[in-house]
Parts: sequence; structure tokens; C-alpha cells
Amino acid sequence: MDARSGSAPSKIPEAGLNSGGRKMPLLGLGTAASPPVPPEATKLAVLEAIELGYRHFDTAALYGTEEPLGDAVSEALSRGLIKSREELFITSKLWCSDAHSGLVLPALQKSLKNLKLDYIDLYLIHWPVSSKPGTYEFPIKKEEFLPMDFKAVWAEMEECQTKGLTKSIGVSNFSCKKISEILATAQVPPAVNQVEFNPLWQQKKLKEFCRDHKILLTAYAALGAKGTIWGSNRVLECEQLKEIAEARGKTVAQICLRWAFEQGVSALAKSFNKERMKENLKIFEWELTEEENKKISEIPQSRGCLGEDYISVYGPFKTIEELWDGEM
Ligand SMILES: NC(=O)c1ccc[n+]([C@@H]2O[C@H](COP(=O)([O-])OP(=O)(O)OC[C@H]3O[C@@H](n4cnc5c(N)ncnc54)[C@H](OP(=O)(O)O)[C@@H]3O)[C@@H](O)[C@H]2O)c1
Repeated sequence: MDARSGSAPSKIPEAGLNSGGRKMPLLGLGTAASPPVPPEATKLAVLEAIELGYRHFDTAALYGTEEPLGDAVSEALSRGLIKSREELFITSKLWCSDAHSGLVLPALQKSLKNLKLDYIDLYLIHWPVSSKPGTYEFPIKKEEFLPMDFKAVWAEMEECQTKGLTKSIGVSNFSCKKISEILATAQVPPAVNQVEFNPLWQQKKLKEFCRDHKILLTAYAALGAKGTIWGSNRVLECEQLKEIAEARGKTVAQICLRWAFEQGVSALAKSFNKERMKENLKIFEWELTEEENKKISEIPQSRGCLGEDYISVYGPFKTIEELWDGEM
């Protein structure tokens, strides 16, 4: 089933990455459900998404969705929904307690085992902070935060890439300043920075910085992460977006995803509902007008996902300002 008209699935536009040789589909399906859902529901959602034409899937060691995503990929192959694993772009992330010298490679190997894959397409450092090794609790206990040794952790991310366990490597929730720290010692620059990005938090400075360094920005909470513990309905309920959507006969979600696409970033959208998955795909056959873009550019800006869970008097970031290096 096509997301638009009922024939073969339409192909999602892709972007090249600065290393690794793989192209990333510019719209991907998020798999972090909040509240969490049973693994079977994640597997079914991924299979439906593959049928609809999604090829890019985002997971993380933290989400507990690597296994059902891997199960869905195996089933998609056995059912002939895809001919080869290479048709998919799979991202996973290194959790804070594994962000230590000597633990990065084993963490990726564990993710690969969960996913039942020989390699992933992109491996990201999930947050710019480490925590006590061996514990996977979330939220992280305040006394268990540790500063990350960016040089050592990034060197091991590079080793993961050299060994072919991941095609590309990148970061998530990194400010311009923290990316600069990585770049200062990197042999391979990050290919991606995955961050909150939507019309209410347009990341103008970070977007420019990443473009200048050929780092592709990936949007999470592109719809504001409604209904999750880290998001709200402020994006989907934004009056300016509602006006544009109504006048164009689109939904606010489609306006957000189209806008992200036109900003030159790749976007993730999480939906486990087939109709909304279809709706979110219908963004590639029309454009926002100059006037609509102007209206969006004038929306007052603030972060929705502040990252309070990563702030600790015992850790490297004692305030939200420190976590984001003042990029508020
Ligand atoms: N790197 C990080 O630190 C980080 C942080 C957060 C998220 N992520 C990743 O990014 C992915 C996407 O971000 P997100 O899940 O935070 O937020 P999101 O995609 O902005 O929002 C997801 C929420 O929106 C609903 N939704 C989806 N499409 C909709 C539509 N067309 N109309 C109305 N509601 C719609 C979903 O509900 P239904 O499922 O019921 O449709 C879900 O409640 C995550 O799943 C995860 O993979 C990464």
C-alpha cells in the first residue's frame, strides 16, 4: 500500500553522510514509546511501517526496542517485504553507563546481538555524559553521573566504525561547544547530531554549525513528542501551526515534518498507529510557501526537552545552561 495513493510505497528522499558511504532516508520511524509498549506492539508497528515504505528506524540500548526491531527486520526479510537488510537504515545509541573506555565496543556488540544484525548504519553517543558502569536504570541516580572522556569514547566509536560494526558514527544532544571538543581529537568527524528540532525549537545556531561541519542534523521530537514523559502537546497545539495546517488542508504533524525536510535536516517521527504513520509520510509532494515559512520562522523559541534528567550536583552538568552550553 502506498502512503499516498494505494500503489507501491513511495521512496523517501535520502541524504549522504560525511563518512560510511550509506545514505540516510530523511524521514525515519522512532521506536521510543512512552509509556513503553510490549515488544510485540513495537514489532508489529515496524512491520507495518516497512510495508508503508519506511526504511529508516531509530532505536537505542536504553529504549528496549532493539530486540523487537530486530525481530521485525528478520520477519520482513522472510516475508519478502524487503529483499535485503541493506535496504534499511538502522540507528542505535550508546547508553551513558557504557560511555567509558573499553565498554563502547562490547555495548555495540550487545546491540547488534539484540538486533540480530552484523552491522548497524549509525551508532550515536546518546547523551554527552557518562554514568556508573553496569547500571541501566533510568532516570540515572544523581550520584552516578560522571564526566565523559570525549577523546577516549570517541576513539572507541571510531574503532567500531573501522571494524565494520557500524557504517557511520555520531552524537546526540551535543551543543556546538561539545561537538567542537569531539572534533578537536577526532580522526573521523561525527556524521550526525540527533537533537530536539521542531518549529518551536528551531536550533538556528546548531543547524548552521552542523551544516558548516558537514554534520547532518536529525530531528527528534519533530512533533513535540506529545504524550511522552519528555515532551508535550505544545507543538501540535501551536496556534500559528494550526492556522497554516488548516489553510493548506494538512495536519500540524505534516506541516512540522515538511518544514523539517525543507530545513535540510532528517526527521524522526514516532507513531505506532498505521493511519498516523501514513499521514506522516505524505509530506514529499508539496511545499510550504515563502509566507508560511516566514510565519514559522517568527514563532517564539524555547526548548521543550530540557534534559533535566541529566543535571546533577554530583555530575559534570549542574545546571541546564551547562548541559546545553547556554544554547537555550
Ligand atoms: N536522541 C535522543 O535523546 C532522543 C530523545 C527522544 C526521542 N528520540 C527518538 O526520536 C523518535 C521520535 O521522537 P519522539 O518519539 O520523542 O516524538 P515525536 O515523534 O515528536 O512524537 C511522538 C508522539 O506523537 C504522536 N504522533 C505521531 N504522529 C502523529 C500525528 N500525525 N498526529 C498526532 N500525533 C502523532 C505519537 O503517538 P502515536 O504513536 O499514538 O501515533 C507519539 O505520542 C523517538 O521515538 C526516538 O526514536 C531520541
